[in-house]
Amino acid sequence: MKLFLDTCNLAEIEKYLKLGVLSGITTNPGLVAKELKVDYLIHMKKIVELCQRYQPIPLSVMVTEKEPAGMLWQAKQFVSQLNYSNLVIKIPIGLEEVNVIKELEKNNIRVNCTCVMTSGQTLLGVQAKPRYLSIFYNQIKDAGGDPVRVIKESSQLLQGTGIEIISGSIRHFSEIPESFLAGADIVTAPPDVLIKMAFHPKTKEELDKFHDKFIHWGEN
Ligand code: E4P
Repeated sequence: MKLFLDTCNLAEIEKYLKLGVLSGITTNPGLVAKELKVDYLIHMKKIVELCQRYQPIPLSVMVTEKEPAGMLWQAKQFVSQLNYSNLVIKIPIGLEEVNVIKELEKNNIRVNCTCVMTSGQTLLGVQAKPRYLSIFYNQIKDAGGDPVRVIKESSQLLQGTGIEIISGSIRHFSEIPESFLAGADIVTAPPDVLIKMAFHPKTKEELDKFHDKFIHWGEN
């Protein structure tokens, strides 16, 4: 049950790395775009520097090229330019992409096969033997599908392969335990969702009561 952080925000990444609760970080071009207009690779380099400073955990970086040859070229560029031993390249699932993933893994470049929405796509992903396979919880829901079922079926299909399931596209903290219970090995969640998962009003109320009692200890 590993928790990854799904963000490109440097301040949030630093905060969570300092907390030490993370086992990895996932990024995507959409998340980079949220960080104003920054250079993709320069921004990734900054995330790498933070990981190197605090905790060298796996960092998933997605290719932006659309054609298989371009993906291969770009993945290798990322590897040489970022020079981070725990770098993972995100390649979307697809018929042609399977060979890209195979080729990268053959060259000892770890791959996160991403954007998986169905168990059929999981089956295709298995052929390429990526390190991780990312199932997009709320994107499946938005399309009228059942993400818990996709995770359950995928977890059965992946048994014995060593491929880890990442449940991504998380919008509510309840989806984190739900994903693990369905068979996900990892959940990647945005910072605000992790904050909400840690909080409960009754926990705060109890703590306030304890502190109050402690302060007034021995007064009666
Ligand atoms: C996971 O690796 C992805 O970055 C992410 O969760 C994508 O989901 P979204 O586009 O629904 O936010």
